Amino acid sequence: MSEEISTTPTTSFPRLNEPAPDFEAVTTHGTIRLSDFRDSWLILFSHPADFTPVCTTEFLAFTEIYPELQKRGVELLGLSIDSVYSHIAWTRNIEEKMGVKIPFPIIADLDKKVATLYGMIQPGESKTETVRAVFIIDPKGILRAMIYYPLSTGRNMDEILRLIDALQTSDQYQVATPANWRPGDKVIVPPPTTTEMAEERLKAGYECVDWYLCKKTLG
Ligand code: BEZ
Repeated sequence: MSEEISTTPTTSFPRLNEPAPDFEAVTTHGTIRLSDFRDSWLILFSHPADFTPVCTTEFLAFTEIYPELQKRGVELLGLSIDSVYSHIAWTRNIEEKMGVKIPFPIIADLDKKVATLYGMIQPGESKTETVRAVFIIDPKGILRAMIYYPLSTGRNMDEILRLIDALQTSDQYQVATPANWRPGDKVIVPPPTTTEMAEERLKAGYECVDWYLCKKTLG
């Protein structure tokens, strides 16, 4: 018989474009606070459990993109509801068996404090493990993007890098990015909010399908 799932959320989840919930946590690199990441971008991500196959492939993949993230001023911080000893044993095992040293800290969230604060435990998926959540936090501590994957699906690192590139491009040039955008592609000029702006933009030399959909090349 299938278990009944409550439709009432038990916690309030963080929201986009609001300050990311602050925390202090024990990690594999010592005690870390969210505020330690002021002035850099941060990807805070959760995985269901140490010593599990999909999570192991994700840790290898996060480590592979780590140099690209650092070029973009982005730090990584992992989390699961495991002890710091489990994290140490797992990352040592990854290094021993797969030759890959995990370069970023991992929160040992045994009391589920950070997981609860960020809505990483979603009982429909698992009552005891965190889902595969990704929170992108900007240098001012504002939550800019969230992605949630189920336990069965490993995350796509290209999409995570693409999302960072899109957010940083939007911030730098005050533009939006279209579906499937990649760095170098045309960007979207923000929609006009007055009739005058709508008329002006048609004369501005953008590539417009109509007044509400205009693209331009950056640079
Ligand atoms: C995994 O990482 O392989 C995994 C973790 C929890 C549930 C299912 C798969």
